[in-house]
Amino acid sequence: MLTVALPKGRIAQETLEIFEKIFQKDFKFDDRKLILEKDNFRFLLVRNQDVPAYVLHQSADIGVVGLDVLEEKDEDLLRLLDLGIGKCKVCVGIKEDSCIDYSAPEIKVATKMANIAERYFSKKAMAVDIIKLYGSIELAPLVGLSDVIVDIVETGSTMKQNGLKVAEIIMESSAYLISNKNSFIEKKEEITSLYNQIKNTIKK
Ligand code: PRP
Repeated sequence: MLTVALPKGRIAQETLEIFEKIFQKDFKFDDRKLILEKDNFRFLLVRNQDVPAYVLHQSADIGVVGLDVLEEKDEDLLRLLDLGIGKCKVCVGIKEDSCIDYSAPEIKVATKMANIAERYFSKKAMAVDIIKLYGSIELAPLVGLSDVIVDIVETGSTMKQNGLKVAEIIMESSAYLISNKNSFIEKKEEITSLYNQIKNTIKK
């Protein structure tokens, strides 16, 4: 039995479709249920940012999660495979009519991704005041809460519709298949076989 942590939403949906292709069966969660058991799999539906915790503590053997979340959490997990789904970019956003003031003694950065933001600006030797938010990040520069934001850009519509633009791209992200290190040893055959099947399926 393999336990798989999936991030609620489109990535979970697309991952289950990959499983459906491989095993030629339906893998569908009932209504509001958070656990789906079928054949040799148990799927858990969790918040995107919580996937690393479930896999790290071995409540799940493997999981699917964005590279952005992996970089932000920086946990001791195995990155097995880029699934090529859930593509997005982590960007610095700023008001359309302004640009980053590199000479400012400190800039205010609103973000969900405090570690990525911190690392990025410290490489540029810029002092930052990180304002940790949990959503609607694009609002912060509009009301003077921050000078810039560090956030996910997928289609770019949220930034555009709120009068912001991408000032810099920090990283490209997509969803990765990850594994707990002990599970990878204990269930090596199961995980390797699934890895190969997923790899062959997403190539097509
Ligand atoms: C994410 C992200 C942006 C938006 C980007 O937010 O934080 O706000 O999606 O997508 P776009 O480039 O396609 O417009 P999410 O929908 O996860 O909501 P949140 O603000 O509550 O985190």
